[in-house]
Amino acid sequence: MAILVTGGAGFIGSHTVVELQNAGYDVVVMDNLVNANSKCLKRVEAITGKKVPFYETDIRDREGLEEIFTKEKIDGVIHFAGLKAVGESVEKPWEYYDNNITGTLTLVDVMRKHGCKNIIFSSSATVYGDPAFVPITEECPKGTCTNPYGWTKSMLEQVLSDIQKADPEWNVVLLRYFNPIGAHKSGTIGENPNGIPNNLMPYITQVAVGKLQQLSVFGDDYDTPDGTGVRDYIHVVDLALGHVKALKKLEKGSGLNIYNLGTGNGYSVLDIVKNFEAATGKKIPYVIKGRRAGDIATCYASAAKAEKELGWKAQYGIKEMCEDSWRWQSQNPNGYDD
Ligand code: NAD
Ligand code: UD1
Repeated sequence: MAILVTGGAGFIGSHTVVELQNAGYDVVVMDNLVNANSKCLKRVEAITGKKVPFYETDIRDREGLEEIFTKEKIDGVIHFAGLKAVGESVEKPWEYYDNNITGTLTLVDVMRKHGCKNIIFSSSATVYGDPAFVPITEECPKGTCTNPYGWTKSMLEQVLSDIQKADPEWNVVLLRYFNPIGAHKSGTIGENPNGIPNNLMPYITQVAVGKLQQLSVFGDDYDTPDGTGVRDYIHVVDLALGHVKALKKLEKGSGLNIYNLGTGNGYSVLDIVKNFEAATGKKIPYVIKGRRAGDIATCYASAAKAEKELGWKAQYGIKEMCEDSWRWQSQNPNGYDD
């Protein structure tokens, strides 16, 4: 029984490969390395002491996928591969729809031709748009996305749900991630953004390591306790463990299931700055700027369904998330580049 991890050289994928191998699964990784470095997989091998079979293939490359499904005995797919930069998706919508949607349609077609009908898909809390209520349960209606990236997630949820409905042999788990941060305890794998980071934690760690001067806090006039945006930050290792639990569910032949993967706790931007400073002893200078287009005030999960049905609950708190993000950044100031 092997699990194909698409996008397995990326941030969440690499951490998930570690936890899958630790749990005893055979894993095969495919990634086109558009936002990853193959050195990451060498480091995964050093952590787990197991080989990671790797195919440098694009999910839109039908022949490349055929080769993997012919050579390997793939029983299920954890599908991380995709482009994820919100701002870039506004500039290049065609590229995002082609990569994420054409890619997933091609992958799913090759899967069914090979009789593999088990998939876990990386979705996002972004599908809730400006949420109708918090904490957000899975019953919260999906909302209007503010960018093409978000729409690819929302549309692919619909595509995979419709495929499962038409053919009940499919088992589909849609996992809606909240805000993943942190890194593996070893400090050898972590998030490696291209250029100037868009997301909060990598920006903070790059200020702390001296690559960026100061943090811009996007808005302090939201209807939140301190006026800055509130999010549900989750340790990437907890997120990875959520996939192992979701796989157990999939193996039982469970049809279509949707789960939030979050902690249930909301932290503001300034809470994160304070917690990072306390956990690392590093001062983070910041300035208050205007709101960022497309941002919402508050977003945090109800994680009750995943706990009840998957037996999964996030274990790591904000202190460890900050410490582990910092360990990775300080030990690898240039990411995977030497
Ligand atoms: P990442 O960019 O580190 O990983 C994605 C991987 O997919 C990369 O290694 C990239 O090289 C690969 N990839 C992209 N297009 C591909 C293609 N056409 N063929 C093969 N490989 C391709 O991002 P991540 O943070 O690890 O995110 C993983 C998944 O989770 C993505 O689908 C992302 O949209 C989703 N997600 C991420 C977050 C987050 O905050 N990081 C939140 C919600 C959902
Ligand atoms: C962003 C994406 C979302 C995606 C998620 C995970 C947008 C609008 N949304 O969510 O679609 O699913 O990442 O990849 O980009 N902040 C600052 N200064 C910074 C960076 C961020 O103040 O330099 C603030 C933001 O305004 C927000 C919070 O920090 O309040 C978190 O931002 P970020 O890490 O970018 O994640 P999201 O916006 O929640």
